[in-house]
Amino acid sequence: MPKDFSQMEDSNRSANPSIHEVSDPARRVLLRGSLGLSLAGLLAPLAGCAAGQRPGGAAGGPALGFKSVAASGADRVIVPDGYIASVIAAWGEPVGIAGNMPAFRPDAGNTAAEQAVQMGMHHDGIHFVPLDGSRRGLLAMNHEYTDDALLHVGGQTAWSADKVQKSQAAHGISVIEVELKGNTWQVVRPSRYARRITATTPFAVGGPAAGHTLMKTADDPAGRTVLGTIGNCASGMTPWGTYLSGEENFQNYFTAADTPTAHERRWGIRKATWYRWPEFDDRFDTVRNPNEPNRFGWVVEVDPMDPNSTPVKRTALGRAAHEGAWVAVTKDGRAVVYSGEDARFEYIYKFVSRDRIAPAGKGKTAAQANAALLDHGTLYVAQFNADGTGQWLPLVQGSGPLTPANGFADQGEVLIKTRQASDLLGATKMDRPEWLAIDPASGWVYCTLTNNTARGTPGQPGVDAANPRANNTMGQIIRWKEQGDFHGERFVWNHLLLAGDPANPRAEDQGNVKGDTFSSPDTIAFDGRGVLWIGTDMSTGRIGKNEFARLGNNQLLACNPVSGEVRRFLSGPVNCEITGASWTPDGRTMFINVQHPGEAPSERNRPEEPRRFSNWPDFNPVGRPRSATVVIRRHDGGVIGT
Ligand code: FEO
Ligand code: CA
Ligand code: CA
Repeated sequence: MPKDFSQMEDSNRSANPSIHEVSDPARRVLLRGSLGLSLAGLLAPLAGCAAGQRPGGAAGGPALGFKSVAASGADRVIVPDGYIASVIAAWGEPVGIAGNMPAFRPDAGNTAAEQAVQMGMHHDGIHFVPLDGSRRGLLAMNHEYTDDALLHVGGQTAWSADKVQKSQAAHGISVIEVELKGNTWQVVRPSRYARRITATTPFAVGGPAAGHTLMKTADDPAGRTVLGTIGNCASGMTPWGTYLSGEENFQNYFTAADTPTAHERRWGIRKATWYRWPEFDDRFDTVRNPNEPNRFGWVVEVDPMDPNSTPVKRTALGRAAHEGAWVAVTKDGRAVVYSGEDARFEYIYKFVSRDRIAPAGKGKTAAQANAALLDHGTLYVAQFNADGTGQWLPLVQGSGPLTPANGFADQGEVLIKTRQASDLLGATKMDRPEWLAIDPASGWVYCTLTNNTARGTPGQPGVDAANPRANNTMGQIIRWKEQGDFHGERFVWNHLLLAGDPANPRAEDQGNVKGDTFSSPDTIAFDGRGVLWIGTDMSTGRIGKNEFARLGNNQLLACNPVSGEVRRFLSGPVNCEITGASWTPDGRTMFINVQHPGEAPSERNRPEEPRRFSNWPDFNPVGRPRSATVVIRRHDGGVIGT
């Protein structure tokens, strides 16, 4: 996401105690099973787990079989000896739609119409869908936002309707076909699967908020068709073969009146806007279209195998600045979808489907057979107790405080106002939940809490057991195990690790990482061996400075979740973040994304010189840095990470 921390979304002024009075350190250390520890004790490596449960599968966990790379500030991708990293599918390459494959122009001279059939900007979540084992498949990926200094000739000068349309065309999702030729992956062009979904592609609306009064606009009086998806951050796959993407920072696209409504304020919508779309597109002006923001902030579902399918916004999963969505399956075959919202002091959610996952058959693919599965079920928000237990609080209209008197007329309104409902229930305010990952071996669910420098500052919530550091510059990875099955309403939890650098003078910046140090975990994903891969997203203005001085550029690390050992696997180019992680079924190819190489330290203070910070990956003297997919292989063709 954009890295202007002074503008970071931070709108939770609810009075719900952040477990609030749970921040008593004497209670907090119960998590470690040893009373009376100081902060230094709190930061020590985790020795045991709550309630006698241990995460991980096989004893000892998966071995990490590579030599870690050093932290680096170099403007390139560095991988361990024996590995090779190559670039495909950079921003602006044609996705491969037959008869419509315009070449990228390094001067950013492509039109909006051309951009709409090219790779979008700022790649984020990614997933490989096999077509032919581990040799050919689809890559579905998100394009989170645009950097308009790089997207257009002349950047934001002479701002125009054409530039707004090009920015909208560079958002959304791409589906491309890729295949392995020798030891090299290539994009297949043309491909019948090639597709772009942008900020103007029609979406259906599913679930209880479909057709709700608060979803209706002048252009869509039925409240059932929304143009576009924006802020698409992380990705997840369903067992029925569809791709889930979270609409994260949608608030930054809208402008409101001088005095926003209370509803708008709770969602961080204000007069100031980051993308200047409202200057030429009234849809993003809430004075003219007050309900349009309610139509964003959803998890969207796409069938990557069917380029003619209509993508759907799944309102039953709740509206939030969703980072993404990740699916577990209960023993009786129901889907449980975990998600969080990456904003300071916001929440972690799970949805339990009412129905069981249906098999393919009777002329339907699995995706078609489960086309309504995510429209019916129960949404919960997480509350973490200081004693290492927690509970899921149901977001059900009519239960507890979620009544008409409190502003929730029906379930649709609960879902459109998920934040306000969670405030009333007293959910735990987290340190910016990013990706989640479910350990297939143990069933423990992991979530990155990337950082929260507002924690403990005047007027803001203080530390609590789950979010134990004030001015949390470094972030942590929390994990929990449901009691019973994934649909259980109670869980036990602890921290896998607190990120940081032990060389830092301030105790809260040191962390307890066993192995290579890092900050600001964002992407996490398990590979087939049970290794937890961690991509980092230190904000651009902080990289290489102060408490981050020894951490190098953003990076990818591998973690044995049983031992807690962490090794740095990859260092990225200057001012990028490392995001997304997916593998071929044989584990011999890994796909990640490098997002926003060369980003200026402040979105508000961009240089006119596009190559000032980075020129990766082309190093074209008249080009510009480009987000791209990086394909990682071993020279000997072996399994990644072994
Ligand atoms: Fe788009 Fe929360 O990172
Ligand atoms: Ca992210
Ligand atoms: Ca991030």
